[in-house]
Amino acid sequence: MITCDLLVYQPFEPTGHGLACDGASIQSIVDHAGTPTYVYSARAIRDAYRAIDDAFASYPHVIHYALKANSTLAIMRLLRSLGSRADANSGGEIRVAERAGFAPSDIVFTGVGKTREELEYAIATGVGAINAESAGELDRIAALACTQGRVARVAVRVNPDIDAQSHPNISTGLRTNKFGVPLQDARAIYRERRGTKGLRLVGVHIHIGSQITTLDPLRRAAASLVSLALELGDDGVSLEHLDLGGGLGIAYEGRPIINPADYAGAVIPELRRSGVPVVLEPGRAVVGHSGALVARVVDTKRFPDGRTFAVLDAGMGELIRPALYGSFHRIVPVAPRPGAETAWDVVGPICESSDVFARDRMLPPLEVDDLVAILDAGAYGSVMGSNYNRHLLPAEVMVDAGAWTVIRRRQTLEDVLSLES
Ligand code: LLP
Repeated sequence: MITCDLLVYQPFEPTGHGLACDGASIQSIVDHAGTPTYVYSARAIRDAYRAIDDAFASYPHVIHYALKANSTLAIMRLLRSLGSRADANSGGEIRVAERAGFAPSDIVFTGVGKTREELEYAIATGVGAINAESAGELDRIAALACTQGRVARVAVRVNPDIDAQSHPNISTGLRTNKFGVPLQDARAIYRERRGTKGLRLVGVHIHIGSQITTLDPLRRAAASLVSLALELGDDGVSLEHLDLGGGLGIAYEGRPIINPADYAGAVIPELRRSGVPVVLEPGRAVVGHSGALVARVVDTKRFPDGRTFAVLDAGMGELIRPALYGSFHRIVPVAPRPGAETAWDVVGPICESSDVFARDRMLPPLEVDDLVAILDAGAYGSVMGSNYNRHLLPAEVMVDAGAWTVIRRRQTLEDVLSLES
């Protein structure tokens, strides 16, 4: 049965004193921290992490949180304290994970297009596994490992040609996508490298996309990975883990979608055919609901056709998902004004017509200086920020048990210009 992931803890709730995050008033946070600011709930992260961990309790598993969703150090440290390991997608993310206290052996290194320098670093520091994206990359890893006199632990990412039924920009498991090696080539790639010096073939890896909201693609991906693992077993390759990647979606719009228990219920029966421990790389499902981008209305205007705009001090530089994928994010006024809801276009300040958070969104009256919170922005929000139009990266605040701390200060123009001559 499919249950609704909105059953998970929702940290942003209206109170008599306006919107609050875990009991901390958003108004008082931004009185100190300014706008735009990302506000995160530590409790929401804990709850979401544990929901995934609990869902897989009946099967040997480890969670490697995908840093790409949000790698602010305080969030990484919180996840480490919960027992999470890390999935890094670049040399930079490996170093951030290490800075947050993760042991190299608890990091998997994924990602298409790893540079020689990144591979050298990953091998030297001794990451838990490098998820190789091609036969050529495997051979480069072997050569670099031999040069260092080390053995690199590797998995191969397979591309199963499965449609994740997500947005095309974040689907990665089709044969037209750039990711992985074709599933039908994988067995030969492993077989030919069974005794290769410098390589230890410890796993197989798959990741078919992100914001996946139906079980069938996830089940099929697991099934194809398990079938490959069984074939590799016949070939004498004994695997330590099957890496299922990430991809579990969250409910941005409030309609029922799959939750971690549904996901586990779909893939564990497949995994049992192998008995091999599973690695999970969730990103969005861990941090997505935990964060909101709080912004201020800086202008309002009405066009003759009746279209009404609220212009915010945050835009695609702070949260690019709506502009890039047409993504829906709930928008709530921090202190809703009395009055009828009308249709608003909520837009950012950037000189691009795509800099729009929502069109025709029903909202109560908005006036200049009002605060709004754009919800479910904990994943792929801050990390995708840019300085376009010379906007400065926002501050980030974490609320824990009603108290809040600045976990990243607002960028200054001096920070930005310090790189320039
Ligand atoms: N593992 C690999 C190899 C990945 O490529 C990704 C995400 C993940 C794990 C984590 O996936 P998640 O559990 O978060 O779905 N910027 C886009 C999402 C891009 C996802 C890229 N890969 C967005 O804002 O929706």
